[in-house]
Amino acid sequence: MTIANTISEIVRIDLGDRSYDIVIGENLLGQASSYLHLPKASAALIVSNTTVAPLYEAALKQALSEHFKVIHTVHLPDGEAHKDWVTLNSVFDTLLAHACDRQTMLFALGGGVVGDMAGFAAASFMRGVPFVQVPTTLLAQVDSSVGGKTAINHPMGKNMIGAFYQPQRVVCDLSVLKTLPPREVSAGLAEIIKYGPIADMAFFDWIETNIDALMACEPQALAYAVRKSCEIKAHVVGQDEREAGLRAILNFGHTFGHAIEAGLGYGEWLHGEAVGCGMVMAAHLSEALGFIDAAFVKRLTGLIERAGLPVKGPLLNATDNAGKYLALMLHDKKSVAGDIKFVLIEGPGRARVSVAPEATVRAVIDRCCA
Ligand code: NAD
Ligand code: GLY
Repeated sequence: MTIANTISEIVRIDLGDRSYDIVIGENLLGQASSYLHLPKASAALIVSNTTVAPLYEAALKQALSEHFKVIHTVHLPDGEAHKDWVTLNSVFDTLLAHACDRQTMLFALGGGVVGDMAGFAAASFMRGVPFVQVPTTLLAQVDSSVGGKTAINHPMGKNMIGAFYQPQRVVCDLSVLKTLPPREVSAGLAEIIKYGPIADMAFFDWIETNIDALMACEPQALAYAVRKSCEIKAHVVGQDEREAGLRAILNFGHTFGHAIEAGLGYGEWLHGEAVGCGMVMAAHLSEALGFIDAAFVKRLTGLIERAGLPVKGPLLNATDNAGKYLALMLHDKKSVAGDIKFVLIEGPGRARVSVAPEATVRAVIDRCCA
């Protein structure tokens, strides 16, 4: 086996005995050395989808063949609309059909949908088998593959059924982003932009300067954005793995965004598009509550627009649009005893989680929706 020198960055997630590395670089996916020193496993199951498998599964399988005698595969239908029990069950069907045991290691090869479902399957098959994230979208590399949140959707609420379950490693191969459609690049940029207002304004400044390079998938810009995003997320998750408090700031834009996704039907807007627009709405709410000024809302909205993301919320109901948003947001996982909690920008680079008066939220929704 050759030890490749392609690994350029390692970001460590510090979680005691659940700690792991995020490996970031070019051409990693097909290198056997990317998968060294994982726990002993009897077999591997690559969980991918019908779009990603034809592109990258052969290379991953080749690399894994140096570590595993047996490699099974399962291809899920593509799309957020399939992030459900039926699709999840097909992973269990495959594991059982091949008589997989407790040492079988799952490899999630795909975007956030595949990663969240493969992770949940790993968390629950035989009460837990090891898994590795091999994220292939920008969004998955900067957010969903990191931190151990796994889930499926319910028609009434996004990511409602799931588990916290950390992977053994995350392998972010920047080369695979070359085949990503532009709309998916924009979706990933939403989660990158998110880290600025909540945690790091120097990074926000950098994104503003480099947004065109990021949109063009310029390798150095992508490499920096992926590393920096993973560092910020690792820092937050390292302090609050199971979202007892601080980690909720990573949901900036998601309270409104999840309502958009569920309200329109999963897959109509991409998750990143809903989060981008949700950040605009959450910024307006932060302004309405007196935390930030209109200039900052304008600046954030401008960047989200330059990233190719929608900044006007969709109408979810013709007669009581704000009421529909509120009803959907009640199912947000941060809601407690009927109170909807919002991630608000307290000041550039600082976030807080708070309730807000219903009349103010209604006014913001009315103002922000097309
Ligand atoms: P996705 O998984 O649906 O992938 C987007 C599209 O790109 C799909 O059609 C996919 O097949 C395709 N694709 C993937 N890689 C490709 C490649 N290299 N080349 C060409 N096409 C490729 O969407 P996503 O944006 O990656 O993830 C969104 C999901 O992630 C949502 O379900 C969201 O809830 C979840 N999420 C989870 C977390 C978490 O912490 N677990 C965080 C953020 C988002
Ligand atoms: N994407 C939000 C989180 O991981 O907590």
